[in-house]
Amino acid sequence: MRISQTKPLLRALSGETLSMPPWWLMRQAGRYLPEYRQIRAKARDFIELCLNPALAAELTLQPVRRYGMDGAILFSDILMLPHALGQKLAYHEGRGPVLEPIEDYGGIAHLDLDRAIPRLEPVLETVQRVSGALGPRTALIGFAGSPWTVATYMVEGGSSKDFRRVKSWAYRDPQDFGALINVLIEGTIEHLAGQIEAGAELVQLFDSWAGILPEEEFGRWVIEPTRQIVTALKRRFPDCPVIGFPRAAGLLYERYVTESGVDGIGLDTAVPASYARDGLQRLVPIQGNLDPVLLHLGGTALEKAVRELRRALGGGPYVFNLGHGVLPDTPPENVATLARLLAEPIAA
Ligand code: CP3
Repeated sequence: MRISQTKPLLRALSGETLSMPPWWLMRQAGRYLPEYRQIRAKARDFIELCLNPALAAELTLQPVRRYGMDGAILFSDILMLPHALGQKLAYHEGRGPVLEPIEDYGGIAHLDLDRAIPRLEPVLETVQRVSGALGPRTALIGFAGSPWTVATYMVEGGSSKDFRRVKSWAYRDPQDFGALINVLIEGTIEHLAGQIEAGAELVQLFDSWAGILPEEEFGRWVIEPTRQIVTALKRRFPDCPVIGFPRAAGLLYERYVTESGVDGIGLDTAVPASYARDGLQRLVPIQGNLDPVLLHLGGTALEKAVRELRRALGGGPYVFNLGHGVLPDTPPENVATLARLLAEPIAA
């Protein structure tokens, strides 16, 4: 057995059923932690933080030190790739990310893949630093945004309510839009390969906006790019698991799993436990999907939901997580409660 396979998170992803599910949380580093806010205040802006290996490594380790998660997710952001490709990006307090929108083929021509990969070196140095600092049971998680989700931010110029610009472009001129997706596929493969070489032991593809597309476009812009990324990574790193998180994919989760080749599937909060177990867990290990609002709320509602989720999903290969990221004002003691609940024997 490889030494890394003794890590619970990697064991679950290779198909083992564990009596205590390994766990980590999307957005486990962040504003809900006072020690995060302290370091955040030191950096001029969020991008600087993501590109400062010493601070980013410290932020990666903070939640793991406090709560003992089974996975440490690299502290960075999915928008570091467009930033490295040369697109103007800023994060505004309360308004989220703001990018200079790319609207046509001319905008794609300015993106520079050759320059992007070296500009992401500091992120790889963060991975190296964390890799050297983790205990023997904790797995290091690398990540990237999926091409579709990253493209929504690049074309809309930030977050969006109706995704009119990006969808219109994709419907109107799939050829040109496909050129943007292709740049992102290539950049994502290289960036993830760099993370794996630097010490990431598994990677997750965040497709936060997978669920807004009709079936045909879902196949073209969500599944196909994911399949290409998974295939390229498998060729180079056959033992490194890839988790896909096509949030809100609904009835298309199963197609996503079977056609993309991911090793594990991250489930959003709306996926029913019965379907997760009977429809998806028979195909691949599953991850999810506690409502982040329950973690924010705490108390008996949290305890009941965690126990139910473990009972429903813990009978097969399972990684405990939220259905989306930790909310910024979640009380830190609720995460401690969660850690304690997850360490209880299942019959409790
Ligand atoms: O999970 C982790 O702890 C690792 C780091 C991580 C961040 N973002 C740090 C971050 C990860 C994995 C992400 C993923 C990410 N980033 C996604 C996919 C997951 C999801 O939430 O849907 C998306 C869509 C982004 C883009 C992004 N970054 C947005 C929309 C925002 C603003 C909204 C917000 O929550 O502030 C960010 C900023 C961001 N990324 C912060 C953090 C800790 C907050 C920055 C701050 O301190 O002000």
